[in-house]
Amino acid sequence: MIDKRLVKEVDNSMKYVLLNVGVQWVSLICNIVIIFSVGNILVSTYNNSIVLSSLYPTMFILLILIIIRLFCALLAARFSYHAAENVKLDLRLKIYDKLLKLGPAYSEKISTSEVVQVAVEGVDQLEIYFGRYLPQLFYSLLAPLTLFIIISFINLPSALILFVCVPLIPVSIILVQKFAKKLLAKYWGQYTTLGDSFLENIEGLTTLKIYEADEAKNEEMNIEAEHFRIVTMKVLFMQLNSISVMDLIAYGGAALGLTIASSQYLKGNIGFASAFAIILLSSEFFIPLRLLGSYFHIAMNGMAASDKIFDLLDIEAIEYGSNKLAENIDNIEIKDLSFNYIAEKTVLNNINMNFEKGLNAIVGESGSGKSTIAKLLSLQNTDYSGLINLNDNDLKSYTFETMANNVMLVAHNAFLFKGSVRDNLLMGNPNASDEDLWDVIKQVRLDAFLNEQAGLDSEVMANGANLSGGQKQRLGLARALLSSAQVFIFDEATSNIDTESEAYIMDVIRNLSKDKIVIVISHRLFNTVEADKLYVINQGHLIESGKHDELLNNQSKYFELYESQSVYENFAGGVENEN
Ligand SMILES: Nc1ncnc2c1ncn2[C@@H]1O[C@H](COP(=O)(O)OP(=O)(O)OP(=O)(O)O)[C@@H](O)[C@H]1O
Ligand SMILES: [Mg+2]
Repeated sequence: MIDKRLVKEVDNSMKYVLLNVGVQWVSLICNIVIIFSVGNILVSTYNNSIVLSSLYPTMFILLILIIIRLFCALLAARFSYHAAENVKLDLRLKIYDKLLKLGPAYSEKISTSEVVQVAVEGVDQLEIYFGRYLPQLFYSLLAPLTLFIIISFINLPSALILFVCVPLIPVSIILVQKFAKKLLAKYWGQYTTLGDSFLENIEGLTTLKIYEADEAKNEEMNIEAEHFRIVTMKVLFMQLNSISVMDLIAYGGAALGLTIASSQYLKGNIGFASAFAIILLSSEFFIPLRLLGSYFHIAMNGMAASDKIFDLLDIEAIEYGSNKLAENIDNIEIKDLSFNYIAEKTVLNNINMNFEKGLNAIVGESGSGKSTIAKLLSLQNTDYSGLINLNDNDLKSYTFETMANNVMLVAHNAFLFKGSVRDNLLMGNPNASDEDLWDVIKQVRLDAFLNEQAGLDSEVMANGANLSGGQKQRLGLARALLSSAQVFIFDEATSNIDTESEAYIMDVIRNLSKDKIVIVISHRLFNTVEADKLYVINQGHLIESGKHDELLNNQSKYFELYESQSVYENFAGGVENEN
């Protein structure tokens, strides 16, 4: 009934849970005193022995007790709020922290829509667990015990009978719990699946429309939505049924209390005031447990959501080291590097490479593993075997900041943020002046375009939606060029750029390679002809390395790739010349 891990994860909420139980208990004690006092007043009235003046102190005490109960109710609400708020804040901070730790490659481990659903709705579901369910759980253990002790002084048989009936509700909760747990796990599974499809389809709506596949996807989503509806209905059915059973026990129990108290009174075993107190208190025996039953179902939903939260928190993050870089990076060495994303398929096989200052290139057919090497070099994934050394030290021994500041991976699909060109560029170097910004803009040949717009204040929509593919890439490149990294990895960074500008940008990259380690990954072998060292990858194996001329002389894979591209490029050149 208590999720130990959940309670442990957010232990600073427990103080508020216990305070909540405390004030509810004080309120119960006040209620008991009120009931006994009212019972006594009723007896005195019945016997005509009441004296009005003697009633004033009792009335005064009753008033105080009612005010205390009012305060207790207010305090309980406040503690419940604090417990819930702390949990939400704590868990959201933990999720955020985890995402930061997972780093740039988090999306390989969990989908964005699942993170959003779990962090928003999932965490919200825990509000009831900590704010209401847990305090109620402790209170509904404490309240019947307190009442048992008090009633046992008045009439032991009534106290015993009521006390024996109390565990029926927890027993019914435990019985339903196992089934509910499975059902709710299914509910959350369906919920996140539907969320994934929804986000994916919205993001890909243009493509779906182009291929007229929207109708079919709509059908798929309808089926998923129907599954979700069915599981939701099952959850509601289970909740309503179990609540009906609990109602039966709770109100049946209260009725039992009434019957026992009446019969004990009629037998003359107890007086009127005692019978009156037992009748009213017998409902107090069961109401906390009945409330617990209602909260239990919402709390179970929270617990199922928390399983998803823990799945996220348990994803193994990269353990970064503590080394900082004191000197310049002049060497990166890859030794016997092997890697696979999924167990069945090896993507990299015993790769050995060595990068020094200058222009290095990795070439090979599509899917051969080039981008994977780039990912591993920039420490986005550490599940590899073999070694990657940076200045003779294991890459994994460096801090995240060292890696982020010194190894810059420039991919072809750099993300641009909503804001201005300036905002986006300053991410590369927050201290850059406008002059620095224009300098890199010129290097990537974006100056003419931006001058026609609002210059550095030109608007950029989310993910650069208002820019062309090439403009996005140039802006991404310009941002990277502002960084003071010592190692630059360009992964198809000029793939969307026209040949003339590409040649110009390659000059910039070549220039960069004069005092930095530059690794260029490119399909177009003409871009890497002048590389100081070329590595040819084929199906995850390093098959050749050397300078362009040496590789051509080998008359092997590189020669084949180069020849086939030459035929195409000459043909393209011929067409251009004719025009
Ligand atoms: N996240 C991933 N999960 C599983 N497999 C992956 C993942 N990313 C890449 N792969 C697989 O790893 C292999 C190498 O992919 P990689 O992206 O490194 O190729 P590449 O040489 O960069 O290709 P391209 O020239 O087309 O960019 C491919 O077979 C690909 O299917
Ligand atoms: Mg690639």
